[in-house]
Amino acid sequence: MTQTGRTREQERLIRMYRRKAKHFDLTSRLYPAPGYPLRAQRLRAVHALGLRAGHTVIDIACGTGMNFPLLEEVIGPDGRIVGVDLTDAMLAQAQDRTAAHGWRNISLVQADAVDFDFPTEVDAILSTYALTQVPECAEVIAHGAAALSEGGRWVVLDLKVPDNTPAWLAQPGTALVRPFASIDEWIMRRPWEAIRRAMQKELVDLTWTELAFGTAFLAAGSRAP
Ligand SMILES: C[S@@+](CC[C@H](N)C(=O)[O-])C[C@H]1O[C@@H](n2cnc3c(N)ncnc32)[C@H](O)[C@@H]1O
Repeated sequence: MTQTGRTREQERLIRMYRRKAKHFDLTSRLYPAPGYPLRAQRLRAVHALGLRAGHTVIDIACGTGMNFPLLEEVIGPDGRIVGVDLTDAMLAQAQDRTAAHGWRNISLVQADAVDFDFPTEVDAILSTYALTQVPECAEVIAHGAAALSEGGRWVVLDLKVPDNTPAWLAQPGTALVRPFASIDEWIMRRPWEAIRRAMQKELVDLTWTELAFGTAFLAAGSRAP
């Protein structure tokens, strides 16, 4: 992607998430379809991080911070969360959530995930329902993997199109996701495949689990010793 194309794509995403930010927590209950098991999937993703009290975790494209309560429960007040997101308005909601809970161990950074300067020696990195929207997702995986401490975990949870879905079915099948992304480009690009390849290259002990009839995936791997 050219620099101009990338800037335009960033601006489009920021505009879209600025419109959604205030009601994101409520409307995400309908995402990608009403009754979709988002919370159960988030719990699995957090469990796959293998966190312990006092650990540091980076939440890439953290949005309004919907993972924060689950992470806080495990890492406790001695742990640390760094939430990174492109959209100021989503981070403002994350800041409100942090203040409302009185959490003092969360830093929020406004950045494109691909430009984020990962701190070194982090215990875990998480990204939920976001990384397939980042064209340079393979680079983000590589940067994160390099920042992990030995045995540190990288976990990605996101949506995908089920394997062997005919093109004519994929379009209406993902119609409910339409407000959240430029879906036609997303289907063509198949970003979950790039994420899988990047995680296979950068990490060890990779597990890939298809969820909800292949409409989502949970990928988890560790930094090699
Ligand atoms: C569907 S929301 C998911 C938010 C959160 N991870 C969750 O699970 O609720 C996608 C988020 O990704 C962020 N995002 C999209 N592209 C990004 C990028 N290149 N770098 C950082 N954040 C990005 C958006 O601003 C938005 O907050």
